[in-house]
Amino acid sequence: MDGLNEIRRKYLEFFRAQGHEVVPSGPLVPNNDPTLLFTNAGMVPFKNVFTGQETRPYSRAASSQKCVRAGGKHNDLDNVGYTARHHTFFEMLGNFSFGDYYKEEAIKFAWDLITKEFALPESRLMVTIYEDDDEAHGLWKKIAGLEDSRIVRLGAKSNFWQMGDTGPCGPNSEIFYDHGEKIPGGPPGSPDEDGDRFIEIWNLVFMQYEQHEDGSRTRLPKPSIDTGMGLERMAAVMQGTYDNYATDLMRSLIVASAEASKSDPDGSHAVSHRVIADHLRSSSFLIADGVMPSNEGRGYVLRRIMRRAMRHAQLVGVSEPLMWRLVPALVRQMGDAYPELRRAEALVTETLKLEETRFRETLTRGLKLLDEEVEKQQGKGVLPGEVAFKLYDTYGFPLDLTQDALRARGMSVDQTGFDAAMAKQRQDARAAWAGSGEKATEAVWFELREKVGATEFLGYETEVAEGKIVALLVDGAPVDAVEAGTEAAIVTNQTPFYGESGGQIGDTGVIFSADGAEFPVIDTVKKLGDMHVHIGKLSRGRLRLGDIVEMKVDKALRDATRANHSATHLLHEALRRVLGAHVTQKGSMVGPERLRFDFSHPKPMTAEEITEVETIVNGVIRQNVEVSTRLMTPDDAIAAGALALFGEKYGDEVRVLAMGRDEDNANGTYSVELCGGTHVRRVGDIAIFKIVSESAVASGIR
Ligand code: ALA
Repeated sequence: MDGLNEIRRKYLEFFRAQGHEVVPSGPLVPNNDPTLLFTNAGMVPFKNVFTGQETRPYSRAASSQKCVRAGGKHNDLDNVGYTARHHTFFEMLGNFSFGDYYKEEAIKFAWDLITKEFALPESRLMVTIYEDDDEAHGLWKKIAGLEDSRIVRLGAKSNFWQMGDTGPCGPNSEIFYDHGEKIPGGPPGSPDEDGDRFIEIWNLVFMQYEQHEDGSRTRLPKPSIDTGMGLERMAAVMQGTYDNYATDLMRSLIVASAEASKSDPDGSHAVSHRVIADHLRSSSFLIADGVMPSNEGRGYVLRRIMRRAMRHAQLVGVSEPLMWRLVPALVRQMGDAYPELRRAEALVTETLKLEETRFRETLTRGLKLLDEEVEKQQGKGVLPGEVAFKLYDTYGFPLDLTQDALRARGMSVDQTGFDAAMAKQRQDARAAWAGSGEKATEAVWFELREKVGATEFLGYETEVAEGKIVALLVDGAPVDAVEAGTEAAIVTNQTPFYGESGGQIGDTGVIFSADGAEFPVIDTVKKLGDMHVHIGKLSRGRLRLGDIVEMKVDKALRDATRANHSATHLLHEALRRVLGAHVTQKGSMVGPERLRFDFSHPKPMTAEEITEVETIVNGVIRQNVEVSTRLMTPDDAIAAGALALFGEKYGDEVRVLAMGRDEDNANGTYSVELCGGTHVRRVGDIAIFKIVSESAVASGIR
């Protein structure tokens, strides 16, 4: 029996032998596509290759792509645990042709692989095609010898594949496996197709068009192929089960969960172990790809997944955080195929542990409240929206967690009431803001922030990404479009541009659009803490609300700024060591050319002190150790010895930067500081540090 790792390998080797480039999985956060929350199909990293915007040195590729379907267009979160085939994380095997081969070869490759290499009995296979695709019909007859009754024509709903609201798309043909009469369910297109008997195992998409935002469709430069085979499903078929969770890999995680919680993997907690096994995979892979739990955007989807798993861990009855203890089992299974998982093992472990430790503080109280409220409803079947909102707001229960907890009791949440409670809270925040004395000119930002939400910052991981324009402003007023020659401010849903904060200046760079617009960004500022605003003057073309744009940070300047920001941390610590612990940061200015650091100290530094500080800092730079970033609560971070700015407001979680080695320090680290800025990968990237001037800026401040 082939294990899942073996099936993946065989698939890729089969296509390698057919002249395909085997390409590593792209990241789960698609920085080439701002319209997608997460990579949800194997073709996502190749999207621009299909449309002709990007070229690669190969025209055939194969991959095993990490996918997450939670939040966004394809959302499977609510079903995980209760069904045989829903996952938040799964692997999609795919072969791709970028204007190289087309339908005939794609069908031939697919048939050869599953009937010869994977040796599935032909009698168990059938296919669907798009209703008017006579060509595919003819090819299935010719290549596979399928009878008409085993080639089902279906409409666009099931047989026209689209990645999202925009992007490459085309008619498709799906291959189904029949698990046999003993399993209930009907063939595709029949009323009971949702049963477990007939399972789609492979989707061949005949890519022909690009879907645009305005609803129009244009032809791709060349017809292409995109295929997707759910690895877990294929493994199930090859291992003689219809249940993905019974396959070797998923089973090993379920068993790990059961062992760690000293419970029966198949007993009354079976659903919980399945949820934990699935959510462990999505959470760990998301964290390994740079997503951190938060209250906005992707980070919030991650948090929802994590908390849902953590409630199930609680249901199983463990009294200590569980998820982090399962990471080694996951890495053992998947670390070879995805080295990024192994590299991030420590971060994944720590992030899971922190989230679960913290969430447990409110989870028990929240569940108690939920029980009481359910009791009060006396079998009414619907939980009032305000209660669900209180659980959300006070106890950190994402709505889907409450829904999941109610599901077992056959109850649901009054969603309208929940939304109303949420709207009321916004209203109150608005009233409080209006009374806070902020300038009226800032009101526009406040309204915008409510409308478009926080900007997702991708700049810790990348300097280039696509974004979708969610607001355009000229002279402080929102507009729908901007013409060349106009000074404007641009807000996008996500950005690699750092917005000025924490002393680090905003990024500069360029924003382009596919139809020729060019907007040099001269500064990036942050409004209301988390909305990044790109400032500049449109030099060419036209930009409209809703446009997808390519965003490029000036890398040389950013790298220089990183070096200066990291040097600031080293300087801060050196000053404390040389001058004393009274040294506290009073401000800073970090840009590409230099850094300025303001600190409390009653008298000028002597020449010797300056030399000593420089020597310490340069010594740490020469250690060239990796800079580590972790996420912690502000309290934990400060307890761990992190330097924080007094009077600064910190959110729920803070980034904690650790730099340099120091065996004499309790934590073995030279400098630990709370910081949201961008930093070097290794301290050696700073290269050299020199103090060029020292003077008073105010009384007692140098
Ligand atoms: N992109 C196609 C899918 O996800 C293959 O089903």
